[in-house]
Amino acid sequence: MRTKIAGVGKFVPETVVTNFDLEKLMDTTDQWIRERTGIEERHWVKKGEETSSTMGAKAARIAIEQAGISPKDIDFIIFATLSPDYFFPGSGVILQRELGITDTEIPALDIRNQCSGFVYGLEVADQFIKTGKYKNILLVGAEYHSGGLDISTRGRGVSVLFGDGAGAVVLQPTEEEGKGILTTHIHSDGTNAEILSAKNPGMHGGYHDDDDSIYGYDDKDFSFVLLTEKMMDEGLIHPYMDGQAVFKTAVRKFPEVIIKALKTTGYTTEDVNLVIPHQANLRISQFVQKILKLRDDQMFNNIQKYGNTTAASIPIALADALGQGKIKSGDLVMLAAFGSGFTWGSALIRW
Ligand SMILES: CC(C)(COP(=O)(O)OP(=O)(O)OC[C@H]1O[C@@H](n2cnc3c(N)ncnc32)[C@H](O)[C@@H]1OP(=O)(O)O)[C@@H](O)C(=O)NCCC(=O)NCCS
Repeated sequence: MRTKIAGVGKFVPETVVTNFDLEKLMDTTDQWIRERTGIEERHWVKKGEETSSTMGAKAARIAIEQAGISPKDIDFIIFATLSPDYFFPGSGVILQRELGITDTEIPALDIRNQCSGFVYGLEVADQFIKTGKYKNILLVGAEYHSGGLDISTRGRGVSVLFGDGAGAVVLQPTEEEGKGILTTHIHSDGTNAEILSAKNPGMHGGYHDDDDSIYGYDDKDFSFVLLTEKMMDEGLIHPYMDGQAVFKTAVRKFPEVIIKALKTTGYTTEDVNLVIPHQANLRISQFVQKILKLRDDQMFNNIQKYGNTTAASIPIALADALGQGKIKSGDLVMLAAFGSGFTWGSALIRW
């Protein structure tokens, strides 16, 4: 028995923010963003309009309908996000409430693997389906990035890259010969965990730093470390990224984990109908395409319209690829992700 993707849904907030709109908020240009990242526009949430959980629920409803089941049939929720509604509880239970299925008392698992969250979730779901424990797993990736970005010139190196949105899939067992998830591979290496991070607000208390004076903590033994005025004043509450280090590692790890999935299953790049990489940056995807010698029609990119939506990017891309008729029954589809942690992974699926 294998796991199949029985339904796919996506949701993005209504408001489109173009590169030209960003020019009005910070010192940047459409040309800079387009040349470096391929991004032309992204969708951003207007305050109070949506959260990761509400967007996730909207994408989930579409996936559930497509799978031909009702929300009450879901027996396990897996929610991947780096932008949860609350520090705790996790967004999985909020999503459950949004879907109106709290009475079913099903488990809701939150996973925190950033841009690889969806592929991590897929591997987890695949194990539970294969053992027969669950039959209708809802896997959601959703992000409300824009509310946490520094949209001034100070934050331009990061904020122009990210967009909001959600994607969801329903996973079910299948006995259809040869179909479903053929293999998954997930990895991590925390050596340089802070290279792409949002450390504050957080409970690290400066432990991982040689000099914790940058955070502005008071000198009492038992202190409030979650958030300080200095963090707020100096913008330490926003995501930090060493863009070039991320780029260099991504273009190594994407091909590596794709090849791993191919070797495990005995396929070659020639056999793959469509590669759907996490939409980190169009330049990264083009690099990966070149390294793996993939044709243009084997590579799916939609970052131009959404920016990087982290855990939501692969399911959003999957929904778009299906909507555009780029995946047919029997196709070999490769999903691959890389992101903060670093974490990375791949999944090879016979559709
Ligand atoms: C972020 C990224 C596009 C930056 O491109 P880069 O060529 O490395 O650019 P740098 O960070 O070296 O910055 C070059 C210059 O552009 C400036 N710059 C940064 N952001 C800018 C922006 N939005 N608009 C205009 N100028 C900008 C910098 O200040 C710097 O100016 P300086 O040379 O005067 O100091 C690139 O590193 C990248 O794509 N990295 C991977 C990011 C990623 O995918 N992250 C998610 C992984 S899941």
